[in-house]
Amino acid sequence: MIVTALTEMFGLKHPIVLAPMGGVSGGHLAAMVSNAGGLGLVGGGYGNAEWLRTELGRVTAETQRPWGVGLITWAIDPKVLDLALSYRPHAFLLSFGDPRPYAAKIKTAGCKLICQVQDVAQARIAREAGADLIVAEGAEAGGHGGSRATLPLVPAVVDAVDPLPVIASGGIADGRGLAAALALGAHGALIGTRFYATTEALGHESAKRRIVAARAEDTGRTSVFDIVRGYAWPDAIDGRAIRNRFCERWHGREGELTATLETERVAYQAAARDGDCDTAVVWAGEGVDLIHEVESAATLVARIAADAEALLKRSAARIVAT
Ligand SMILES: Cc1cc2nc3c(=O)[nH]c(=O)nc-3n(C[C@H](O)[C@H](O)[C@H](O)COP(=O)(O)O)c2cc1C
Repeated sequence: MIVTALTEMFGLKHPIVLAPMGGVSGGHLAAMVSNAGGLGLVGGGYGNAEWLRTELGRVTAETQRPWGVGLITWAIDPKVLDLALSYRPHAFLLSFGDPRPYAAKIKTAGCKLICQVQDVAQARIAREAGADLIVAEGAEAGGHGGSRATLPLVPAVVDAVDPLPVIASGGIADGRGLAAALALGAHGALIGTRFYATTEALGHESAKRRIVAARAEDTGRTSVFDIVRGYAWPDAIDGRAIRNRFCERWHGREGELTATLETERVAYQAAARDGDCDTAVVWAGEGVDLIHEVESAATLVARIAADAEALLKRSAARIVAT
């Protein structure tokens, strides 16, 4: 068993956190990760109240273990924050924006505050806000993120916020990634893309099939999916997705896309509803190279933890007295 500040904070069996993937990490998936000994986070995304009621109801019904929820910070509606807290999550993850206006409310509710950051300056702000845990997200990650790579970002954040525990995210999809995260000084891994390709994840089967089939080179960072969906993301943040026909057509022509939004949006919404992944976005990170099938979340959690443990033991055995 691998024991870290993360496992001790929540009484987990494994230092593995399900990323709060908006609309993908539903209550069932979060509960299955928590039941398997990790920490499941429901992906509240932009804060749709009806979706949250359904999924938070589900996670509380399906697990007795610690679980949490995440919201995109710049999109927070205080009423939705209250709604999420009323389900008494053990952890609340804020990402993309200044957590300081919301930190006190979350902590007063008895919830651990987890802040996901994309650079060292944001990590310092998260510490100032009173974060209990900081997730350092590298640009290899699926979904939205910054420009720093996981390998140098994680130890830089570890040093900047010491002794606050840090979790690594971005490109981690197996036991090797978890072992590497621990070697970098992190207390665990937050994993998104790998859990998208699970039977329990919400989202179209066609999206899961794309993730299994994709290579890392097929992913790229772009703003076109945010433009067509009408989300006003801050300038420095775009998202990593599997490049598709829509992306090939509009990436680099964002101004023209904005000008023809009315027609494009109708077609886009239909594609998203029907699981047409030639048009609709499939957020996914460079870890797709390591994903070969859709599996259950419990199988994944157990395998990632066991492989990391075996790898760390083998690595330790390589050290000989001289
Ligand atoms: C489909 C998908 C949706 C995501 N949605 C969110 C979100 O709503 N809020 C958030 O904080 N992060 C979101 N992320 C980013 C994750 O929190 C995390 O940083 C990322 O998945 C880690 O990298 P990995 O995908 O390589 O494991 C999303 C990621 C994916 C793949």
